[in-house]
Amino acid sequence: MDSGRAFYAGLLEALTSVMGSAKGYLRDHGPRVAMLSSHLGRELGLSKAQCSELFFGGILSDMGMVGLAEDAWENPTPALSADVRERVQRHPQRSEERVRGVPHLQDLAPLLRHHHEWWDGSGYSDGLTGEGIALGARVLRLADTVAALGQKRPHRGALGPEAITEVVQAGLGKEFAPDVGECFLTLQRAGSLPLFDKESYRHTVMRAAESLLPEEVSPLSTSQLLTIIANLIDAKDPYTAGHSRRVAVLSVAVAEQFDLDAHTRSALWAGGYLHDLGKLAVPLRVLAKSGRLTEEEFAFIRAHPSDGAEILEGIPTLQHLTTGVRYHHEKWDGSGYPEGLSGDSIPLVAQIMAVCDAYDAMTSTRAYRNSRDPEFARGEVAKESGTQFGPLAAEAFLRVPEKIFENLQAQRLDLNR
Ligand SMILES: [Fe+2]
Ligand SMILES: [Fe+2]
Ligand SMILES: [Fe+2]
Repeated sequence: MDSGRAFYAGLLEALTSVMGSAKGYLRDHGPRVAMLSSHLGRELGLSKAQCSELFFGGILSDMGMVGLAEDAWENPTPALSADVRERVQRHPQRSEERVRGVPHLQDLAPLLRHHHEWWDGSGYSDGLTGEGIALGARVLRLADTVAALGQKRPHRGALGPEAITEVVQAGLGKEFAPDVGECFLTLQRAGSLPLFDKESYRHTVMRAAESLLPEEVSPLSTSQLLTIIANLIDAKDPYTAGHSRRVAVLSVAVAEQFDLDAHTRSALWAGGYLHDLGKLAVPLRVLAKSGRLTEEEFAFIRAHPSDGAEILEGIPTLQHLTTGVRYHHEKWDGSGYPEGLSGDSIPLVAQIMAVCDAYDAMTSTRAYRNSRDPEFARGEVAKESGTQFGPLAAEAFLRVPEKIFENLQAQRLDLNR
């Protein structure tokens, strides 16, 4: 099991790189908010630890949006229906609840809850006003809006510095706290706001991790964070509760049949949890659709293995997870995606994940059919060995002890209760 602060920080980075809507709208939104917030925090005299909290707060503030109201990201606020608006207003509380489960970052809970409070009291979750809003939450409010305006959306282009300055000036004393707003405007005028770049973002992730996380993050904490990320991924699709974790458990059980080294086992363990990471970038409307997908919609689905893999590849401590994630939808006969690899050119870890993934999909209820029982699904694995599945992986899968399947099935019943 991978542990340590760098691996843990890498997971936090992975989580946030894909949050945001498809087609790159708001891609890196969390990281941009985080960089701007911690910069403003420093200028406003916050301590190093407070700036680190602001940094992670910026990354995680919209965690509650996943699976809730992503359609809101693609439309201007006035165009949203009352129902969507109502859901959007719940996201800070969902983010707050979720961060309470993230080891070492529980203290961020109030910050997340209040990141949409307005200085004049017209924001949410609690309609706080003025100094009643903690300075950190005031900073997040401004950084969130500024970062969003600087990026292109389906309904408008990206705003330049002058247009952003105007919005901030007009919002002083309304959406924005005067102290935070003035600080931003001063830096903006002086041209001393740093531009967003991936390299300095990564350094800041590590610095913030050093100030908030213990040097040795325990395996338990790491596994809790993996569970949280997996739950977020699975929450995208109403039919996949617990899916990512089951793929991880099964993949490790298959690996045991092979006597693989610790490094490969860990790639299957963490990689299993993260194999569908790229789904965070697939629009909800595509995942939840029960009818036939259009070509454009299917392109989103086909992109999820490479999207996930690209993110992991960019994070040094997670690079070893890339292979399984990238190729978990390849098929032995070459009819899979994204690259249509066949036979032994599909790495073994990916072959293992592919069997486990398909087995779990078969035994889950989907939008278009009920679940199959485990016997039937294992029969399919045997039948498709050498066509869909690598023969060695399929054979090893069929040797996994009955007990493991029974346990997974029992936990599934618990989840559905
Ligand atoms: Fe938000
Ligand atoms: Fe997948
Ligand atoms: Fe999957």
